[in-house]
Amino acid sequence: MKRLSSSFFQSLCRYPSNQMLFPCACLQGCARGQLDMEGALTARDRVGIQDFVLLDAHTSETAFLDNLKKRFSENLIYTYIGTLLVSVNPYKELDIYSKKQMDIYMGVNFFELPPHIFALADNAYHTMLAEANNHFILISGESGAGKTEASKKILQYYAVSCPSTTLLDNVRDRMLLSNPVLEAFGNSKTLKNDNSSRFGKYMDIQFDIQGDAVGGHILGYLLEKSRVVHQNHGERNFHIFYQLVKGGEEDLLHQLGLESNCQHYSYLVQGECANVASINDKNDWKTVRNALSVIDFDERDIQDLLGVIASVLHLGNVQFEPDSKGYATLNNSAELLWVSTLLGVNVQVLQEGLTSRKIEAKTDEVLSPFTVDHAIYARDALAKAIYGRTFTWLVNKINDSMENKDSSRKTVIGLLDIYGFEVFYVNSFEQFCINYCNEKLQQLFIQLTLKSEQEEYEAENIGWEPVQFFNNKIICDLVEEKHRGIISVLDEECLRPGEATDLTFLERLEEKLDSHPHFVTHKLADKKTRKTLERGNFRLLHYAGEVTYCVVGFLSKNNDLLYRNIKDVMRQSKNTIVRECFASKESDGRRRPETVASQFKSSLLGLTDILMSKEPWYVRCLKSNESQQPGQFDDVLVRHQVKYLGLMEHLRVRRAGFAYRCRYDVFLQRTKIFIRHPRTLFATEDAFEVCKHDLASRIQAQYKAYWQKGQFRRQKEAATKIETCWRGVQARKAKGRRQWAVKVIKKFIKGYMARGEAKTTDNSEYLAFVRQNYLNRLKDNLPKMVLDKTSWLTPPPVLMETSEILRQLHMRLMVRKYIRGITAQQKAQLQLKGITSVIFKGKKDSYPQSVSQPYVDTRISEQDINMKVLQMIRHEGIKYSIPIVKYDRNGFKARPRQLILTQTAAYVVDDAKIKQRVLYTTLKGVSVSTLSDGIIIFHIPSEDDKQKGDLIMQCDHLFEALTKLSVVANKQSAINVVQGSVKFQMKAGKEGIVEFSSGQESMVYKDKNGHLMVVSTRTRAR
Ligand SMILES: Nc1ncnc2c1ncn2[C@@H]1O[C@H](COP(=O)(O)OP(=O)(O)OP(=O)(O)O)[C@@H](O)[C@H]1O
Ligand SMILES: [Mg+2]
Repeated sequence: MKRLSSSFFQSLCRYPSNQMLFPCACLQGCARGQLDMEGALTARDRVGIQDFVLLDAHTSETAFLDNLKKRFSENLIYTYIGTLLVSVNPYKELDIYSKKQMDIYMGVNFFELPPHIFALADNAYHTMLAEANNHFILISGESGAGKTEASKKILQYYAVSCPSTTLLDNVRDRMLLSNPVLEAFGNSKTLKNDNSSRFGKYMDIQFDIQGDAVGGHILGYLLEKSRVVHQNHGERNFHIFYQLVKGGEEDLLHQLGLESNCQHYSYLVQGECANVASINDKNDWKTVRNALSVIDFDERDIQDLLGVIASVLHLGNVQFEPDSKGYATLNNSAELLWVSTLLGVNVQVLQEGLTSRKIEAKTDEVLSPFTVDHAIYARDALAKAIYGRTFTWLVNKINDSMENKDSSRKTVIGLLDIYGFEVFYVNSFEQFCINYCNEKLQQLFIQLTLKSEQEEYEAENIGWEPVQFFNNKIICDLVEEKHRGIISVLDEECLRPGEATDLTFLERLEEKLDSHPHFVTHKLADKKTRKTLERGNFRLLHYAGEVTYCVVGFLSKNNDLLYRNIKDVMRQSKNTIVRECFASKESDGRRRPETVASQFKSSLLGLTDILMSKEPWYVRCLKSNESQQPGQFDDVLVRHQVKYLGLMEHLRVRRAGFAYRCRYDVFLQRTKIFIRHPRTLFATEDAFEVCKHDLASRIQAQYKAYWQKGQFRRQKEAATKIETCWRGVQARKAKGRRQWAVKVIKKFIKGYMARGEAKTTDNSEYLAFVRQNYLNRLKDNLPKMVLDKTSWLTPPPVLMETSEILRQLHMRLMVRKYIRGITAQQKAQLQLKGITSVIFKGKKDSYPQSVSQPYVDTRISEQDINMKVLQMIRHEGIKYSIPIVKYDRNGFKARPRQLILTQTAAYVVDDAKIKQRVLYTTLKGVSVSTLSDGIIIFHIPSEDDKQKGDLIMQCDHLFEALTKLSVVANKQSAINVVQGSVKFQMKAGKEGIVEFSSGQESMVYKDKNGHLMVVSTRTRAR
């Protein structure tokens, strides 16, 4: 639709009932298009005519060929006939398939650029996306014309041009790499083509709604497996055998029991051309080996697969000799042993299967031995069966790896690359099948292009001059018709009881087809033709030319018999592929399996159905010469192909016909608008006005949902990515932390173990830690008081010295603080206490208890001293007074008195009487005991008459009183602390003794010996 000129709309009123056909070759539009297009082209691109539709002498075959040749000579191998692409094999690499070239063709209008296979691929792709329907590209031409190369180029184009993601790349790689694998197993060198496809391949490339290539599926058609056991001169077996033998690594070959020499294998030498200049088996082996890994083959699969290949080669070397009875025996058990090892089957059972067959006789099974020929037949049958079934397995395996399990809607582009029409010197059953297949494809082409289109014009009464063409239906019928067709006759001969041979088959053909214009045999031919035909041959006049088939082997190849006992052996194989390949029910059934030709016929019918349901695109490949040489354009050969491919007829229909063709129902379905009268147009417009907002909001909603979905998916992907990164960071951090911890702990333990040693790198950190830890603890646990000498934390050995210095510092600090905090009064008090300490510390038991008791200024206030006494001594300045108990010198009677200290003397006062006055100047000494009693003795010189002898008194505040005395009278040195007893002077020169002791109870009494006994309680500690 998008390529229609405005005249299309005017011509809408002239539509046929069944098809929409639009004139193109009324060439105005085209001519203008050509002008635009030509402007964009380089001079080189303008060689000849790019689209045959524009050829002036469009009916002239010579003009057609000249154009092809002219372009070919400039390496322009592609030319269009409308949308059909004609490709001429250049037999040389051209620089027209690069990524740059692909980019040029991507999304560009078909006719804007020079003809190219990429333009066709791109056009098919975009049409598929626009119309959301399925397409196929039919690539046809005879063997060696370039079909396989064309299909590869298309696949490569899609691989590059389709959107790509990691997932899609995966699918894409598998699709691309399935090619070398399938070519290795299914292609071989023939006389026509060094890389001839010996199987048919139809590949669906699946695209999702956005045009991403999301999956693929391959259908394989009849592999020419007879090639495994026999090759004509100048031909080879399948590539894989040579690749493995030449390229396989030494270890691998050793493991498979193979030698790196093709000449060693009888299945590889029959054609006498194991080495081909154009083929590099070693490199191809590497490609295939690598491809197998990419397309999901695990090591086990590869091992089994190569085991099969190697076992076929060994099987080919198994030779038989006749025994005395003429029965086959094996003469090379080493090869058989390798077969049994590689296939994992019992060697005895295998040998039995190759030299005899089991016959069921009523209840028993009997072994019927083979002759040598029969054994060779059985051996070859086994080799073909193993290889053929493995090939099918391979296709399935590749399909598994490309499968898209998503059930969303997909459209497909099918690529059909099948074996091309071929004629050899001797043609057999295989060529019969291959050429029949080509007949069917030609028939399809005719049906879709020449026949139905012309019939449509006629049915629509459109002015149309019929274009005559050869319809090959007659040949298709000759081959496939029920009961009369060659396949039916062949099957009948294969199945009928009695002695059927290839020759009886030929006779039956002659009976049934005696007057068929496309069938000739020696017997049916006229004289002239008979000379060119042998008796065992029949000739078919194919659309592409005559082919003479030799009937030898038709029956056996059609039957493709493999004896039941050898199938049973294979079913027990330890090689998974072989076991899987033979595990089907067929070996149990008593019914004869379908013949090869019938199977092939049904599969081609299936293929036709598949293709008919899709929109076609055509690539017609032409061979430029028979010798596969670059730059050679064989006029006769090309003219022949142009003729039988019906290209001239196609051109004529294309020129005279309509540019755009589409089935009416599809067109209607797609456009939904169908205008017959103006009122329909108005009604349609009104309806459109009503609906358009609804439509717009629906489209908007759909688009929003689609956009949101995409957004959500992107966000989710981003979130997952961030999460992963974040987790990674966290994990790395945690790991770092753990590592650090381990290091620290290790160092700590080492340090601990070496803590007593001198500082080393091992213990330095530990010691630092210990130091810091101790100092921290010390900081929180410092002693609070100067007197607290016990709570200083015990330092670790390394800090002994430091700790001592700190302790002293701290002590000094506390002392300083304390000193700064005390008042003048406290200071005076402390000075007094200091004096007391000098006098008594460590000497008198009760001293420690006294330390905490504060001193007072005086113990008796002036009011409590008698006035008289006061008047007498006040002028001396009273410094201190305290109540005491005075003991008489004779009887030691205790008398309560007051002791008053003035500036000059100490007075003992009894109420209003001064009992005694002791001038400080006369005071000889003062004695106290070491114990805890409060006895004070003033020693007064006996010469002083005024005195009554030494003064003995008891004072509760002994330390206070004596300290005051020592300060007032400056008598510090006069105070003696004596142990045991003290002598004292009584009046008139008499001496008395005071004895100090400690006991349970403190008391003072006169002893019988006249001594004054002073008992004091023991204090806890001195
Ligand atoms: N476009 C091309 N450019 C260069 N060489 C080509 C091209 N097409 C084909 N050839 C050459 O021709 C050879 C045969 O081509 P190809 O294998 O595609 O033929 P075919 O049609 O598939 O034959 P068959 O029916 O036997 O499989 C290729 O191996 C290659 O050398
Ligand atoms: Mg091919």
